Amino acid sequence: MTNIDEHTMASLQRENANRMVALPDGSMMPQVGQGTWYLGEDPAKRQEEIEALRLGVQLGMTLIDTAEMYGDGKSEHLVGEAIKGIRDQVYLVSKVYPHRASRNEILAACAESLRRLDTDHLDLYLLHWRGNVPLSQTIAGMEQLKAEGKIGRWGVSNFDIHDMQDLLSMENGNQCQANQVLYHLGSRGIEYDLLKWQREHNIPIMAYSPLAQGGRLREQLLESEEVQSIAKKHGVEAIQIILAWCIIHPDVAAIPRSSNPDHTYLNAQASKIRLDEEDLKLLDGRFPAPTFKTALDIL
Ligand SMILES: NC(=O)c1ccc[n+]([C@@H]2O[C@H](COP(=O)([O-])OP(=O)(O)OC[C@H]3O[C@@H](n4cnc5c(N)ncnc54)[C@H](OP(=O)(O)O)[C@@H]3O)[C@@H](O)[C@H]2O)c1
Repeated sequence: MTNIDEHTMASLQRENANRMVALPDGSMMPQVGQGTWYLGEDPAKRQEEIEALRLGVQLGMTLIDTAEMYGDGKSEHLVGEAIKGIRDQVYLVSKVYPHRASRNEILAACAESLRRLDTDHLDLYLLHWRGNVPLSQTIAGMEQLKAEGKIGRWGVSNFDIHDMQDLLSMENGNQCQANQVLYHLGSRGIEYDLLKWQREHNIPIMAYSPLAQGGRLREQLLESEEVQSIAKKHGVEAIQIILAWCIIHPDVAAIPRSSNPDHTYLNAQASKIRLDEEDLKLLDGRFPAPTFKTALDIL
């Protein structure tokens, strides 16, 4: 893995630590974090994955996002191991399965997550997506967890605008602190309505798959002439431009996932990149936001 000198380490740590997103409850959440989907599933990769997560925290990407779903708890186990001794530096986020998000079952689900993560509280607990359990029950369970100090606050994930409207119409629905949704340069549907609506309600977006995960779309993004020329101009990698674009708005957090410390280092540097108006115009021209309503992209 690349050797990072102390000065670079401190400067990246400062840059990322200064980037915070204000939440409706008045608290602050790190803007640049780390995802963990698929981490913890391959024993041969375990040490490298732990190294990557710990390096990310050292470089100021202190939010770690996981879920009971990921590897059926294996990801939470890995995160628990990775944050041993540094729990107080980490902003810990996990998610409950929709079918476990009923008034009482959510209490058990959270207790199991806490046990796997080897901690006594989560900073943020999210409903992974909307299922059949009435939202009023999930809200009541979340509020109880908050009152008991098991979670600092709660939010949702994969909620489109109509789901958010339903949520906020309910008792304590306005306690929702964030909505984690798919958002990257190649998937800008939320800019049409959800992003604006959430801004009006001061509820930030947490962008998942900010690097467009694998596959063709990502190749299209990375290999596009526009992204390539902007990367060249800033002297950085194309993938760093994709991430820098995602965190350009101070109310949008992003959780890139990497199991490779070299990639984690590259991701941590993205917050130093200052895309200018010319860059953004080029990117808008090639990857425009839709001008009509599209269904929320979901992975
Ligand atoms: N709420 C939800 O429903 C939901 C859904 C999907 C994801 N998420 C969360 O969001 C996180 C991020 O999304 P994601 O995992 O879908 O994908 P992503 O972060 O968009 O992309 C991850 C992929 O990019 C690679 N990568 C990372 N940094 C790189 C770099 N600098 N250079 C080259 N390749 C790089 C990783 O490989 P390496 O490991 O080799 O670096 C991995 O294959 C998840 O891990 C999860 O925590 C939430």
